[in-house]
Amino acid sequence: MAKTSMTKSTSARASSATRTWRIAVIPGDGTGPEVIREGRKVLEAVASLEGLKVAWQPYQFGGEHYLKTKEVLPDSALNELREADAIYLGAIGHPDVAPGILERGLLLRLRFELDQYINLRPVQLYPGVWTPLKDKGPEDIDFVVVRENTEGLYTGVGGFLRKGTADEVALQTSVNTRKGVERCIRYAFEYTRARNQDKKLTFCGKTNVLTYAHDLWQRVFNEVAKEYPDVTTDYTHVDACCMWMVKNPEWFDVIVTDNMFGDIITDLGAMIQGGMGVAAGGNINPQGVSMFEPIGGSAPKYTGQGVINPLAAICAGMMMLDHLGESKAARRIEQAVKQVTPKMKSQAAGKMGYSTSEVGDLVVKHLK
Ligand code: IPM
Ligand code: MN
Repeated sequence: MAKTSMTKSTSARASSATRTWRIAVIPGDGTGPEVIREGRKVLEAVASLEGLKVAWQPYQFGGEHYLKTKEVLPDSALNELREADAIYLGAIGHPDVAPGILERGLLLRLRFELDQYINLRPVQLYPGVWTPLKDKGPEDIDFVVVRENTEGLYTGVGGFLRKGTADEVALQTSVNTRKGVERCIRYAFEYTRARNQDKKLTFCGKTNVLTYAHDLWQRVFNEVAKEYPDVTTDYTHVDACCMWMVKNPEWFDVIVTDNMFGDIITDLGAMIQGGMGVAAGGNINPQGVSMFEPIGGSAPKYTGQGVINPLAAICAGMMMLDHLGESKAARRIEQAVKQVTPKMKSQAAGKMGYSTSEVGDLVVKHLK
């Protein structure tokens, strides 16, 4: 997965005797708590092998809490989260809560307020994992999407005019700032260089239609590229990107894209790497507090059955360790996961051949 050493600059915050990481945990809704339990189990085990300590700070935010209290994320909690070394998030989304309340009020609010301007999503096929792509294997499906995470269509800029009438107008504006675009593209170049594989960075946009927004992106991309002569650059329109991800995923090393396109292509990415059960992501503020999550939703229909795949949450934990500079511990998890995936019947919920907690136990067993 993330094979870089782009670690948190503030890693010195962990106390030096036995390094103790303060991890805020938001298990969230649906199957979130079940997968986070396994992730914590694995992180605890790896911490004891590596002589680290994790101080967990649990928060009960999510759909149930909202329905009981009408509270989504109070400022006081947000301010506490600013002091954590990282945040470990399960899933947000509840069938009885109207769409947008938790997404905007909790997940997007955290991303925005903590200025987690990168959404890092590795797309890697692990050994023995089924992919819907015929004749493609782990050596073909191994790239990373760097998604802008604080701007674009996600800012909530827009509004209605004459709502509910026949003359209704709805506007939703894509916000692209020079600073926001540049910091994302810079991160992507640095990441590509540090990943040190094909050293190829592809900008995925829609320059033929988004002639303002992606004109800015393209100009900044070209400009920043001059500072990275060792990185090969490429461009693909987002629609073609979807096609190439299916047809020739081996062409990609790192893809940089805007918030909305990144959201969409990383679901496609998750499918080609074996499904939501294995797809993890990080919401990164390189100078601040970052948040790691399995990217699948809360899967309410599987709640409490012990059938959901915890590997995505476990891999999110691995990304968190990498980010904190604990790359030895992260590699222990990575090699364990690579030994466990071939033993599983499937990565799909209910078809793994193991329960949720058995998969967690298997990863722990292979940590050595
Ligand atoms: C994701 C999710 C979120 C997004 C939703 C839940 C707001 O789909 O993390 O990809 O669109 O970013
Ligand atoms: Mn998404």
